[in-house]
Order: sequence, then C-alpha cells, then structure tokens
Amino acid sequence: MTRTAVIEVSGLSKRYGTTVAVDDVSFEVYDGEIFGLIGPNGAGKTTTMECVEGVRTPDAGRVKVLGFDPARDQYRLQQRIGVQLQEAHLQKRIKVGEAISLWASLYKSVVNHDQLLAQLGLSEKRNAWFMTLSGGQKQRLFIALALINDPEVVFLDELTTGLDPQARHAIWDLVRSIRTRGKTVFLTTHLMEEAERLCDRVAIIDRGRIIDIDTPSGLVRRHCPQRSVLLTTEDSRAEEHLGTLPGVTVTRGDAVDNPLMMPLVIRGDAHDLMTSVIQCLADHQIRVIDFQTMVPTLEDVFLKVTGHSIRGTS
Ligand SMILES: Nc1ncnc2c1ncn2[C@@H]1O[C@H](COP(=O)(O)OP(=O)(O)O)[C@@H](O)[C@H]1O
Ligand SMILES: [Mg+2]
Repeated sequence: MTRTAVIEVSGLSKRYGTTVAVDDVSFEVYDGEIFGLIGPNGAGKTTTMECVEGVRTPDAGRVKVLGFDPARDQYRLQQRIGVQLQEAHLQKRIKVGEAISLWASLYKSVVNHDQLLAQLGLSEKRNAWFMTLSGGQKQRLFIALALINDPEVVFLDELTTGLDPQARHAIWDLVRSIRTRGKTVFLTTHLMEEAERLCDRVAIIDRGRIIDIDTPSGLVRRHCPQRSVLLTTEDSRAEEHLGTLPGVTVTRGDAVDNPLMMPLVIRGDAHDLMTSVIQCLADHQIRVIDFQTMVPTLEDVFLKVTGHSIRGTS
C-alpha cells in the first residue's frame, strides 16, 4: 500500500548558538496516522515540531506540510493545521467559551462550537475562567482550540505532561477520536507508555538525531526480540524438559525463602516462545504454581538503541 505523506521532512537542522538542537532529521508522516516524535527532554522534539509548523526557521533542510512550505505559506497553511497552545498563551480570566470564539475568529471556516465543547467534555465549563480549570480540563481546552478550524493535521506537543493517569487516558481517547475522523496527528512525548499506546508509528530522537522509525511493535521486534517467562513449579523435571526447546535458555531466578519455589527464567527470541512453553508444560503434565510473561517495551528499545535510559537524562 502506498501511503500519502502529509508531512515531509528531510535534512532538517537547527542550532541555537553552539547548541545543535536538531541534526539532519528526516521523516514522513502519513495521512490519517498518529505519528510520535519520542525522546528525552532536550532531544529536539519541540524545535523539530516548531520548524514543521512554520513558527521557527530551520538552518537547513526541507519541510513540506500538505504540500506547502511552512516558512513561505504560513498563512494558507495555518488555515489547515491545528496547533496545541501552551499554557502561557491564555489569560487567566478568559472564559472557556470566549477562548473558543476568539480562536474561531482567526479562521475562515470553523466547526460548531457547542459540538466541539461537548466532544471534549467541556460543555459545563463554557462560562468558567481558564484559571479555574484542572490540568486535564486545560489540556482538553487546548485540544479544542487546536481543532476549531477542523484541521487536516493536528500538532500536539507533550500534551499529557503533568496529568494524572485518569486524565491522561481521557486525553488519549480524544487523540484517537481525532484519528477516527480521518485527521493526521503529529505529537511529541517523552512518555514511552503514551507512545506505545497511542502512536501508529514513532521516530526515536536523541540529542537531535533520529535513531530509528517504525511502528512501536516493529521497533520492539527488531531491537528487543527476546521474550521471557517466569515460571514457578515444584516439579523437578521442568527445567530439563523446557531446556530441550530449540533456541531457549532456562536459568534459576533469584532465591526466595523456599528453594523449591525459585522461579525458572525461560528466555528465547522466538515469536511463539509462550506457545512452545505452554505446549511443553502440557505435554509433560507439569503443574505450575505461577506463570508470568515479560515482553519488552519501547522503554527497553530506547535503552538498547541509545545506550541510556529515557528517564533522568534531562
Ligand atoms: N530558544 C532556545 N534557545 C536556546 N536553546 C534552546 C532553545 N530552545 C531549545 N533549546 C535547546 O535545544 C535543545 C533541544 O530543545 P527542545 O527542542 O526544546 O527539546 P525537547 O522538546 O525534546 O525537550 C536543548 O538542548 C535545548 O536546551
Ligand atoms: Mg519539548
């Protein structure tokens, strides 16, 4: 299937003085997908996004959004994209409904305000001051403002940072609903769980450079194929039988009080490791007390490809 690229970035570079913020970055975002630029604080995500939006001028490289050059066709492009606002840009005492009307006045064509507020769960907050909203409500308002002109491409920069898990899940649902309506979403996040759950494809960026681009599951498969099973059993034959499975290693886990209850750690690269292990247990009628599977995540991929953890690197 050939997919249409709505965002094309090639060889993008940007420095601030001697700091190289973005270094020869290239990627494409396809029509109708949720694409995530993921990496730690300071990796160059915001700078890249701002160059794509046309609010920052790159030092080098080529950017196209919906066929436009964002630097040259700023005005025409603004009508067709939606950009999430940062908190500092709204007055404390502006009311939710007023903010929506103000934003709507900037565009030639806009969506129905009531429907938009209802969709984002903000109908009851129409007359509330911005400063009285919770973190989650503020983020929903920012998304509402980004959607006011019914944009084809929506840009969201770290939109769930600082939110509690419940508010975060609500925002993820909203972002998925944007995709359901056929829009393209380009987002940044330093939260690997968010990227894994939300994004169709991600680009890993570290120190201004793109390390790899793929679906989250594709990245896990290619960089961290190893799966493991932690198995607790009192059956002394288990270790021997499981050890005969092709491509599988079996070791004893950490000691617990009762040596018989030390879990077996079964590792292998095969996609169907779990199935083979279950089959083997059934074939030999091995009774199992506990069975845990461990599947690598994007966080493991990040560690593998960059050599450092995504946490604590800011
Ligand atoms: N306006 C600026 N002036 C100087 N340095 C900046 C500016 N904005 C970002 N930087 C630097 O550029 C690098 C990338 O920043 P940024 O794009 O904000 O990364 P991210 O969004 O991934 O946290 C960082 O080292 C940051 O300190
Ligand atoms: Mg940022």
